[in-house]
Amino acid sequence: MSLLEVTDLQVSFHTADGEVHAVRGMSFSVDRGSTLGIVGESGSGKSVSTQTLMRLTPGAKVSGTALFEGQDLLTVSDDRMRELRGAEIAMIFQDPLSSLHPLYKVGWQIEEMIRAHDRKISRDQARKRAVEMLGLVGIPKPDRRVDDYPHQFSGGMRQRVMIAMALALNPKLIIADEPTTALDATVQAQILDLMRRLQAEFDTALIMITHDLGVIADMADDVLVMYGGKPAERAERRTLYYRAHHPYTMGLLRSVPTAAGGGDRLRPIPGQPPSLINLPTGCVFHPRCEFVMDRCRVDEPTLDPAGPPPGADGHDPSHASACWLPHDAVGLGEEAQARRLAAAEAGRKGKGAKPPEPPDSAGKPDTGRPDTGPQAQGPDTGKGPEGPDTGAGTQEPKPKPKGPGGAPDGGTG
Ligand SMILES: Nc1ncnc2c1ncn2[C@@H]1O[C@H](COP(=O)(O)OP(=O)(O)O)[C@@H](O)[C@H]1O
Ligand code: SF4
Ligand SMILES: [Mg+2]
Repeated sequence: MSLLEVTDLQVSFHTADGEVHAVRGMSFSVDRGSTLGIVGESGSGKSVSTQTLMRLTPGAKVSGTALFEGQDLLTVSDDRMRELRGAEIAMIFQDPLSSLHPLYKVGWQIEEMIRAHDRKISRDQARKRAVEMLGLVGIPKPDRRVDDYPHQFSGGMRQRVMIAMALALNPKLIIADEPTTALDATVQAQILDLMRRLQAEFDTALIMITHDLGVIADMADDVLVMYGGKPAERAERRTLYYRAHHPYTMGLLRSVPTAAGGGDRLRPIPGQPPSLINLPTGCVFHPRCEFVMDRCRVDEPTLDPAGPPPGADGHDPSHASACWLPHDAVGLGEEAQARRLAAAEAGRKGKGAKPPEPPDSAGKPDTGRPDTGPQAQGPDTGKGPEGPDTGAGTQEPKPKPKGPGGAPDGGTG
């Protein structure tokens, strides 16, 4: 049995403008000690879905099940949820300052969290544990820094504190929501390195949320690509990088920096994410899809098996894609692209069935995006992924900038 098994999660919010369908049927599982990457543009429902699992979306209309070791997180009592939070499932957010209280010393905050879950532990023991955790995440002189306030740490150091806090109770699952988005490339690489190391050491399962496929390139076991509140594609990491099926996934891949550097420009996906109040008919991606066919405007695709069939080279039983293109046309190679174009051509008979303009070759980002937060920005060329080690027929992800051996990223801020 998986550690976490989410089935048909749906989350909506009632607003003055109408019902916001933030999550529209999401299913996934996470095994013990494994990493699931959830990827998608801003507004695709990544945060709402995981916050709902932690019961942090008050007022939302929620359905589905989320079995964590057999207990449904969506229906357990509030008391049980409080026990689970921190001790069994911990969260790390993009902005540690939103989780750390500015007026309390970081050590005290870690101690309090430990003591809230373990009434028998003395303050001395909790403090020892806090110092030990700060040391473990690479904070220099932890016995002194334990008495510093959050503002006395740099952004990267604060994120380390959050990781220390998340790991302090040795949870079985950590949900990290864009944990490195606010950090510069070198610090980001160090933090990802640290998370990978500690995850292996503690055998913690991890859900890593990001808008940047590069971030999870050498980290995730499985990847779930979200679009418009639903999974567009899911697969093992390597399958996703080398045998992607969904045009949206391919768009995300093209926006990851490549080893080719200037020769192969980053190409942001043209167009805007859909309105979650007035969703497009048929495939939610159709207004932005270069392969759009007549049926795409009418029928919503189901998440079906994709890639080579069982027994064939490269078959991944977990690979599924919600797209009407031929299910074995995968990857960014020319042959697959030609098949997709032919299928799209054949599928366009209706009037006015013109596909949107192909991606701007100048790589000019689309303007007028409603969300101007960090997640909504174009790909960050500084955040190169370390690529998977095999595969062919696609671009080669650029090596991740390595920090000095996971060394701390500086002292006070
Ligand atoms: N409390 C809320 N009330 C109404 N809409 C919300 C609320 N929280 C999130 N949303 C909307 O749900 C959608 C998904 O948001 P979110 O999960 O935060 O996206 P992301 O993939 O960027 O993490 C967005 O359109 C967002 O505006
Ligand atoms: S080809 Fe059709 S179904 Fe597939 S992503 Fe494009 S619009 Fe959606
Ligand atoms: Mg988010």
